[in-house]
Amino acid sequence: MTNSASTSYRRIASLKTAGDFASYIAHLGLALDFDRELTVGPGSPLEQPYPLGEFRIGNRFCILPMEGWDGTDDGRPSDLTFRRWRHFGESGAKLIWGGEAVAVSHDGRANPNQLLSGDHTQSSLDELRRTLVSAHEEGFGSSRDLLVGLQLTHSGRFSRPNRKERLEPRILYHHPLLDPKFGIEPGHPCLTDAEIARIIEDFVKAAVRAQNAGFAFVDIKHCHGYLGHEFLTARTRAGKYGGSFENRTRFLREIVAEIRRDAPGLLIGVRLSAFDLIPYRMRRDGRGEPEEFDGPYPFGFGADPANPLRIDLTETYQFLDLLDEMAIRLVCISAGSPYYNPHVQRPALFPPSDGYAPPEDPLAGVARLIAVTSQIKARYPHMAIVGSGYSYLQEWLPNVAQNYLRTGRVDFVGLGRMVLAYHDLPRDVLCGTPLDNRRLCRTFSDCTTGPRNGLVSGCFPLDPFYRAHPEASLLKAAKQKFKIADNS
Ligand SMILES: Cc1cc2nc3c(=O)[nH]c(=O)nc-3n(C[C@H](O)[C@H](O)[C@H](O)COP(=O)(O)O)c2cc1C
Ligand code: SF4
Repeated sequence: MTNSASTSYRRIASLKTAGDFASYIAHLGLALDFDRELTVGPGSPLEQPYPLGEFRIGNRFCILPMEGWDGTDDGRPSDLTFRRWRHFGESGAKLIWGGEAVAVSHDGRANPNQLLSGDHTQSSLDELRRTLVSAHEEGFGSSRDLLVGLQLTHSGRFSRPNRKERLEPRILYHHPLLDPKFGIEPGHPCLTDAEIARIIEDFVKAAVRAQNAGFAFVDIKHCHGYLGHEFLTARTRAGKYGGSFENRTRFLREIVAEIRRDAPGLLIGVRLSAFDLIPYRMRRDGRGEPEEFDGPYPFGFGADPANPLRIDLTETYQFLDLLDEMAIRLVCISAGSPYYNPHVQRPALFPPSDGYAPPEDPLAGVARLIAVTSQIKARYPHMAIVGSGYSYLQEWLPNVAQNYLRTGRVDFVGLGRMVLAYHDLPRDVLCGTPLDNRRLCRTFSDCTTGPRNGLVSGCFPLDPFYRAHPEASLLKAAKQKFKIADNS
């Protein structure tokens, strides 16, 4: 694969003026708004506190969860993990959505170095949270208005608990496209209802530990193709966890009821892939194209079965109604999966080594995520809605963020990759300090390519610490193998 397909799109850095940016958006035919002028100080939409019950979250920046593939074998944080969480604290954002995915059981780990919830890791997860909070207090004087949650996960179909290169999938049903794509044999066993009951217990125990470790909320992860998300599409599964919408949401409902019983006072949030598209594959020229599927496609959540390249939010709204009924107000909107349609989930100009060159201008992916989030916000005004996918906006991130916050179309602007590259960007924006464009994430995808090749994650191209890290040369070699050319 070469980067020729990637470079046919205009780079954001070349859109120097508001006029350039507006013209390019119009040229692409996208609906994406932005403010030409940024407001700094108490009047800034980014600086407004958000009332969540009795609590006031201090501003509208949110750090999205990002794992680093760098925990110890038994699931405790390493120095690299502490460094990342310290950065999250120093960022200036007042909402920390989960830090990173923490597995509720060993067999549900996405990699052998994923953090793990267990009695043996509880104190180190507490230390991790305290590291973030102390860094925040050093930088901003107080953590009174900082809300920190922990993301709980089981990786389901994408579990690799023992060896980085060996998938040990825990599936709910056989998927006609994802099974062959990831080498899952037709005879591979599906999780039984009894095994699901044990996973539910694991989530509840992990939530109790998170509360003991001082976290204000837990995110019951329902995104990106992992187990929680797979439940939502288990239409072909028999029994009480598959088929009807009620059955497909039983997993969440049981977890929530039991957390409320065993960890009263702990807030609950849900990160959701609010829509999905059919899986993509690489075309001969390196560009992504949708997989083929005959007949109606029943495996997408938030996708139209008649045309799984079209979003259909009917069930997404049903799911959000359910969250509402369960008094869950914290909702983080994401989409798709980094494994089978990464351009939907994290729009990038340069693909990761297991990806494909973007099938659309990455700005279209950003606009799609933002539009769906706005539609959801309009329908659920009392929910705290966090948006994702802003990193690709680069120089224009603050302008787009301010517009959607100012017009009430999102409550928090979530930042993922940008904080790996430029962790204190929120602070700079809030202080009115001009952005340091040498530190802006340019979506080189090395933070995804690293882990896909058994390495740690980090911003190898832009963060001097990772540039000098011993795994930087291994990453370079891995990229050579996949012939991904970029400017990093
Ligand atoms: C290296 C890396 C690790 C990630 N880990 C997680 C994770 O643990 N949990 C999760 O929900 N999303 C994870 N994501 C997705 C991000 O939270 C975010 O949704 C995505 O990067 C798009 O936002 P952005 O454009 O600001 O990067 C990860 C993304 C990256 C690049
Ligand atoms: S490696 Fe750095 S520049 Fe590339 S996508 Fe990740 S954070 Fe952005």
